[in-house]
This record gives sequence, C-alpha cells and structure tokens, in this order.
Amino acid sequence: MEKTLIILKPDAVQRRLLGKIIARFEEKGFQILGMKMTQISESLARKHYAPHEGKDFFEPLIRYTTSAPVVVMALKGKNAIEIVRKMMGATFGSKAEPGTIRGDYAVSNRFNLIHGSDSPASAEKEIGIFFKKEELFEYNLTDIQWVYDMSTGDII
Ligand code: CDP
Ligand code: MG
Repeated sequence: MEKTLIILKPDAVQRRLLGKIIARFEEKGFQILGMKMTQISESLARKHYAPHEGKDFFEPLIRYTTSAPVVVMALKGKNAIEIVRKMMGATFGSKAEPGTIRGDYAVSNRFNLIHGSDSPASAEKEIGIFFKKEELFEYNLTDIQWVYDMSTGDII
C-alpha cells in the first residue's frame, strides 16, 4: 500500500470542482487518510516546490500556489502514486487526455487544478510538510475486501 499527497490547487477551489475531483478518487477505491482546507504560505510553497527552484516558471508557480485556499489530501491505495498521476493527466491542461482530471477540466499550462506526488520519497516528504501526525487517520474501510482481492493473502 502506498500513500500520496494531493493538492487541489486554488483554481479547483475557485471553480467549485472539489467535489467532482474528490469523488473520482473515492470512486476509484482510494482511502482518504487526511483532508483539510488551508492557504499555503510562501515558505511552505517554496519547500514543497523546491525541486523546481531556478526554473523560469518557479516564481509564478509560487504566486499561483499561495494565491487562495487549497484542499490537501493524503490518499492510500496500492500503487496510489502512479494511479493518481494517471488520473491527473499530463501537466499541461492543453495536452492532457480527455478522461483525466486535467484533460476534462483544465486548458491552462499552469492553472492545472491538481498536484500529486511523483515518487514514494516525494510523497513522504510532502505528506510531512502538510499534515501533522494527528491529522492523519488509520481506519478500516468495510468494503476493502471488494476493492482488492485479499483472499490469497496478497493485495491483488
Ligand atoms: O504538477 P506536475 O508534477 O504534473 O508538473 P511539474 O513539472 O512538477 O510542475 C509543477 C507545476 O508547475 C505544474 O503542475 C504547473 O502548475 C506549473 N508549471 C508551470 O507553471 N509552467 C511550466 N512550464 C511547467 C509547470
Ligand atoms: Mg511535479
């Protein structure tokens, strides 16, 4: 099981798309471990996007990220990082395939609605940036044995 950090960026809040996007992840079978609305501070945004420091879009990206409230979520599921990235679609809204979140709802190459961690290392770092321990919940979902085949002892 993997964990991943999602940010529903300021445009997702402003365009009232939170429910639709969150529903996709719930319907897919992911478990929400933590979720909150927050306005990201400049220092937090710089820390979160540190891998992009120095690139030409870094400063506009920091302004965008901090411009208005966001919703952050920690999700859990098998191969969650890769599956969420697929569901998000390509970075540029203009290039993202229909059927993906960005492909269906975004046309901008910057205002692309959603962030998802790109590796287990960045997921761990990012969840640590946005959530305190007590804001993350470990609980059983009653339908988990219908989301995965767990009858063999593995999660299939
Ligand atoms: O979000 P994702 O991992 O798909 O893309 P990224 O390459 O990690 O870039 C982070 C964010 O920077 C993107 O989601 C865009 O909002 C923004 N960006 C931009 O404004 N201009 C670019 N040329 C590339 C990315
Ligand atoms: Mg990225």
